[in-house]
Amino acid sequence: MSPLLVELEDIKSQALSELAAISDSAALESWRVAFLGRRARLTEILRRLASLSLEERREVGAAANLLKENLLAAFQEREARLRELDIAQVTQLGRLDTTLPGRPLPRGRLHPITQTLRDVIGVFQGMGFQVVEGPEVEWDRYNFQLLRIPEDHPARDMWATLWVDSSSAGGGERSMLLRTHTSPNQVRYMERHQPPVRIVVPGKVYRFEATDATHDWMHTQVEGLAIDEGISMADLKGTLEEFARRMFGEGTKLFFHCDYFPFTEPSMGMLIGCAICGGQGRLANGQGCSTCKETGWIEILGSGMVHPEILANVGYDPERYTGFAWGIGIERIAMLRHGIDDIRLFYQNDLRFLEQF
Ligand code: PHE
Repeated sequence: MSPLLVELEDIKSQALSELAAISDSAALESWRVAFLGRRARLTEILRRLASLSLEERREVGAAANLLKENLLAAFQEREARLRELDIAQVTQLGRLDTTLPGRPLPRGRLHPITQTLRDVIGVFQGMGFQVVEGPEVEWDRYNFQLLRIPEDHPARDMWATLWVDSSSAGGGERSMLLRTHTSPNQVRYMERHQPPVRIVVPGKVYRFEATDATHDWMHTQVEGLAIDEGISMADLKGTLEEFARRMFGEGTKLFFHCDYFPFTEPSMGMLIGCAICGGQGRLANGQGCSTCKETGWIEILGSGMVHPEILANVGYDPERYTGFAWGIGIERIAMLRHGIDDIRLFYQNDLRFLEQF
């Protein structure tokens, strides 16, 4: 029998008896270095295996490797045991109170505009409208020209535009802009689909405008479009009234007025009683209400019957099909719902404001 086998036995009994006596992690680490480290006796034997005779190498190699595995396992077991003992000790000393409630993790939530947007879309989905989307960077052609707003037409002034390429600012077939409304998607959708159409198109829109309590340079719209045989203005009004009922509740005060958009005829705006001043135009302290500009009403959407020229442009027969469209401002609705008096609050990333929703 190789004398190395005797030595391995010796290493084994020494290592295991020392390990059993260890009670702290520093001692455990010294043990590891002494018995499994680079200069440990066992490591030395393993390194010398190559120089042994074939027979001895077989015998000693198997035993040495087995011992290494055993020591490693014993080490890990001891390590785990020490950790348990540590915890038990801390608990016993009363330094760890396991009955204390944990620290709550900060909880995220949806932005108030996202919440309102989803609610608005949900109401229209419940009425049979399908959700589609379109690009935020848009061609002049879709944002204006196909909506009956030609280059150099004064109607362009209704939408102060952010042009992507300033050299083409002001219009032209190939000019790119940030869409000023979601209406280009009326045309985009109709180009690819045949009637009947029932869609809503949510998205951000951009305006090169000074900001105030009710205007920001970016806001969110939900476009609506319904095209079919026999659709009338009464369907438009009924749809919008039903929307207001489901969104704001029974008995919400609505106000419809004549409006103008180049792509609808006739056109109509819808206003809702101002929630900030209760429709009075004045606040309780006698001050004028800046949210509704002292009128008691807030305009939340523009709408109308889709102009027959637009239907013809996308290949629909305007003698057979009619329809209506609208564009709702989501920030205004969120303001009405939550009694917020300044639209700019939504995009200042102030958590004290956002955490309230
Ligand atoms: N696109 C118009 C706007 O942003 C709103 C609108 C949409 C009006 C659809 C009529 C029909 O002001």
